[in-house]
Amino acid sequence: MHIPLVDLKANYESIKTEIDEAIATVIENSSFIMGERLKTFEEEFAKASDMNHCVTCANGTVAVELALRVLDIGKGDEVICPANTFIGTTESVTNVGAKVVFVDCSEETYNIDLDLIKKAITPKTKAIIPVHMYGRMVDMETIEKIAKAHRLHLIEDAAHAHLAEWKGKKSGVISGIATYSFFPAKNLGAFGDAGAVVCNLDSHAKKLEMLRNHGRIAKYNHEFEGFNYRMDTLQAAILEVKLRHLHEWTEQRRKIAKRYDEALKDNVITPPTIPDIYHVYYMYVIRTPQRDALKEFLKEKGIETGIHYPIPLHLLQAYAYLGHKEGDFPVAEKLAEEILSIPLYPELTEEQQEYIISAIKEFFKK
Ligand SMILES: Cc1ncc(COP(=O)(O)O)c(C=O)c1O
Repeated sequence: MHIPLVDLKANYESIKTEIDEAIATVIENSSFIMGERLKTFEEEFAKASDMNHCVTCANGTVAVELALRVLDIGKGDEVICPANTFIGTTESVTNVGAKVVFVDCSEETYNIDLDLIKKAITPKTKAIIPVHMYGRMVDMETIEKIAKAHRLHLIEDAAHAHLAEWKGKKSGVISGIATYSFFPAKNLGAFGDAGAVVCNLDSHAKKLEMLRNHGRIAKYNHEFEGFNYRMDTLQAAILEVKLRHLHEWTEQRRKIAKRYDEALKDNVITPPTIPDIYHVYYMYVIRTPQRDALKEFLKEKGIETGIHYPIPLHLLQAYAYLGHKEGDFPVAEKLAEEILSIPLYPELTEEQQEYIISAIKEFFKK
């Protein structure tokens, strides 16, 4: 049996008629840029996220950049980020002219270690970017207290966390601003690159809309120089269809995760969970010191796996200029050696789930 890590084809097949109809409508209307369906999706996604506004954009990386820009973060500022995220979080910080300051992650949550944040704060710190890794939200109450005490902005990177909740509150609700990626493999994925910023202030939404569209207030009237960071109407139409199914898909992810939790807990460290968090399992990440051998074994069985992410950011060549060395963020480094993402998506059949569980158990019996 071959089981891919992500099965976008199976997802498409499950809603083919609706998707094909949505695409056909956009082509029929030929309103490809900033079309009517873009607005509709923004309204729907804001509603689904319990936020006042959603401003779509080209991808999740520029979503972080737009959020930084709307908060006037730039040259001379420092922004605290976890060391174990994807580079899309942090390159945006550099792209606005600010400095990335890494903080290690916690072994209990795989999210930024809240106890270490204070030590990283300097007079230049302007913001913290909590990343809700794999769909499990950061403790927003505690991080908000830290941010308030030091007068820092919070920008939640929710690229992994569509519909996730912390004590009933979704990304952005506590901080006022969160960013999303709709990269195809995400829980809510487009048919190409796409992203969004959700926010509560009208002033933020207005500025974000201008920033992503050449600083424009009306056709050929530009208040400032912005960017072409728009999302295509075609992607909005696709996302609007998928959003209708997202709650049901998320529940299915959680059901499979629960099955994995019970079946695998004696063999590997299963993802940390607490009842207060509505984990949406963008990735189901297990942990074992025998990670590489297990990965190879599963590959031979036809099961694709992934590592999110294999090199902690501070050890990437891209961040060599910051002068970090091995040992600086030991938890992120240890996790990078032990974590393994196994297939989990709504379309994964019972038979496929059983095959994955049996293969992992077989490996540990050897
Ligand atoms: C945590 C995180 N932030 C930001 C991004 C960037 O999103 P995009 O690929 O849509 O630019 C990603 C993408 O995977 C991500 O995982």
